[in-house]
Formats: sequence, C-alpha cells, structure tokens
Amino acid sequence: MIIAPKTRGFICTTAHPDGCAANVQEQIDYVKSQPPLANPPKKVLVIGASTGYGLASRIVPAFGGGASTIGVFFEKPGTERKTASAGYYNSVAFEKAAAAEGLYAKSFNGDAFSEEMKATVLDTIREDLGQVDCIVYSLASPRRTDPTDGETYKSVLKPIGAPYSQKNLNTDTGEVGDVSIEPCTEEEIAHTVKVMGGEDWILWIDALSEAGLLADGFTTVAYSYIGPELTFPIYTNGTIGKAKEHLEQTAAQMNEKYGDTTAYVSVNKALVTQASSAIPVVPLYISLLYRVMKEANLHEGCIEQIERLFSDHLSSDSGPSLDEKGRIRIDDWEMRDDIQAAVAEAWEKVTTDNLSEISDYSGYKNEFLKLFGFGLQGVDYEAETDPERPLPSEQ
Ligand code: NAI
Repeated sequence: MIIAPKTRGFICTTAHPDGCAANVQEQIDYVKSQPPLANPPKKVLVIGASTGYGLASRIVPAFGGGASTIGVFFEKPGTERKTASAGYYNSVAFEKAAAAEGLYAKSFNGDAFSEEMKATVLDTIREDLGQVDCIVYSLASPRRTDPTDGETYKSVLKPIGAPYSQKNLNTDTGEVGDVSIEPCTEEEIAHTVKVMGGEDWILWIDALSEAGLLADGFTTVAYSYIGPELTFPIYTNGTIGKAKEHLEQTAAQMNEKYGDTTAYVSVNKALVTQASSAIPVVPLYISLLYRVMKEANLHEGCIEQIERLFSDHLSSDSGPSLDEKGRIRIDDWEMRDDIQAAVAEAWEKVTTDNLSEISDYSGYKNEFLKLFGFGLQGVDYEAETDPERPLPSEQ
C-alpha cells in the first residue's frame, strides 16, 4: 500500500515503516557520533521502550555502551490493510539495527501493568541475561488496570481546585485561541496517580528483586516534567503533577529499601511526543520554546536529552548531579532564565496571525509527523510499502 499520514487532532492513525526505521537510524547515528559512555549499564530493561523518551533510553545504552536490552511497550502490529503503530515499527527497526551489531535485543508487546507481562519479562531475564543492572520506566498511558483489584483507572489532565484558562494552539488549523478546563474531582486525582504515579514502577522493581534478577548496584530511573509557571495549573500543580509527586516519593521509598543511589527521577525537557501532544496548552508552549532554543543553539530532541542523561549523570564517573529535591535535571537548558524570559515574552504576543513568524510551529508539525515516520530524508513515500513488519524477536 501507499502510506500517507492521516492525522486527527493530536493523533496520526497511520505510520510509515521505512520512515520509522529512518527515524530510529538517525537516533542511532547521533549516539554513535558521541563519545562512548564511561560506565554504561550492560543489561537494560526499558518499560515504555517504543517511542519518545523510552525509545531513546533503549538506543543510548545499546549503541553508546553495547548494552543488551529488553523493551516493553503497548503497540499495534500491522496487517495486510492497516499500518502498525509507529512504536511497533520503531521497535522492529531497533531490533534489526541491534542484531546487525551483535547486540542482544528482545521486545515484548503488551500491557506492562499486568502480572502476565511482568512474569514473561522476568522469565526472559532469568533465561537470557541472568540479571539487569538498569531499569528505565518511561510509560505514558491514559489508563491502567490494577492487577490486584482488576479495576481500570483513567488518568486525566486537569487543574486542581480552580478552572484554568490559557492560550492554546489548535494543531489541526494552526489557530491560537483560548482553552478553559474545569477542575478535577478528588477521585480523578487518585486515579491519575494510580496510572501515572510510581505504584507500578515499584511493583516491577520489587518483582525483579524477589526473583533475584537485580544486579548489585542496579539503578532505575523514571521521567518527570516541571516547565514554566504558565503551565503549572495544567501540569505541575494539576492531576499529572500529583502523579509525578508520587513518582518522586516512590523513588525515595526505593532508595530506602535498595540503597540511596538506586532510584532517580529525571526531569526532562518538553518535547513533541505522542504523549505531550495530547496535553492542552503544551503544543503552543513547545512551538515557542523550540524557536527560542533553536535560536540559542540549545535545542535537543529525545535522543540528545537521553544521551546527556547517561553521559553526564547515570553513566558518568562522578554519578548523577542532583537538585535540592534529589532529582536529575536535564530540563536545565529549557529552564534557563534567558530561555524562559524569551518564551514568556513571545507567549504574551502570540496570535494566529504571527504564529509562524514568532514560533517554530512548522518545526512542531514536522516533528509530529516524524514521530510516525513521515517527512524523513531518503524514504520513498510514493512507493508501494508492505505494512506487515513482524518483530524479529517475536518470530
Ligand atoms: P510516549 O507516548 O512517546 O511513550 C510512551 C511509551 O509507553 C510507549 O512506548 C508506549 O508503548 C508505552 N506504553 C503506554 N501504555 C503502556 C502499557 N499499558 N504497557 C506497556 N507500554 C505502554 O511518551 P513520552 O513523552 O516519551 O513519555 C514517557 C515519560 O516521559 C512519561 O512519564 C512522561 O510524563 C515523561 N516526560 C515527557 C515529556 C515530554 O515532553 N514528552 C517531558 C518530560 C517527561
């Protein structure tokens, strides 16, 4: 079939296998252009490994440190008539590239929250790797079925206590308007924490520990975001912020249990991913931020961010540098005073009419399409393309 993008709001329902492979290869090439990691982990489990920050977290230790990797994700395989989801094609491409370099890579497509998935992954670690020494937890999910009570919880992106109104970008039409979001209920806070907090993270670590599959001195990291004051009501002080607070409490709990250099929360930069495009207000902020950071020569994507996370923190000789709350901050360049001041000034001015002039809206749209394998150099988008690309490790 000829595969073209079909976008609806913040979703693209098609993906291009060769474009996704080119996108993965670009990230691998970037990692290989950097010095090898000083003290890389050797056996890495990445939960949420198929797109965005998790995919980058699989590529960096593999291609920057020769690590064996196991990836867990929730994606759709392709059929004769329907393309796979982008994360599926990304993982096929990752496995092929890893195999070409003699690197171990296995992937598991299914629900990371389930006991079945944990058991399958634990069995594979036991049989193939013996132990793991680094676990990256990079899930972004709208729902979670808790295996202990069978109940399905949904996460929401809402402010707490008062309505929130702010400028917003309609990414379908390119119009800058206003959005107003009503505050959440107490139950919605609890449910968002259930899905996006640290409960499942520690379930994974405890299960690995009980099975004797954690190497001495293992580390684990999960990702958070803080961002500017203008998004505080919908992010940091909103329902998702409560879940991120819980993630930090969970890291502290794990450090008490497993030793104080075990669990880290890394605060990352706002970037175009499938998860972030769904958050109100954030796409407009990202469009303005990209413009300012590109002009300052400070722009990074997921792969540059995660390469820095490993080289400057997790795998550096001196270990991670932490802020006053014990977090790794690779959002440091985004949060620089000069960057934030320039974004705040542009935020005040931005309208539909000047959007293209003062923001990097075209960069935003290109990055969004690239997530699904569209717009990459060297890919023939007019060619007949087979959408069925099985994962090598599933065959
Ligand atoms: P993403 O949407 O690109 O990736 C989410 C990953 O989770 C995918 O691999 C997906 O397959 C997997 N997944 C979702 N539900 C699953 C399930 N039930 N079982 C197994 N796998 C499942 O998201 P992104 O943006 O990379 O987010 C990852 C983490 O980084 C999140 O915690 C997010 O809050 C955080 N973060 C994101 C930022 C951004 O701007 N994108 C900024 C800072 C932190």
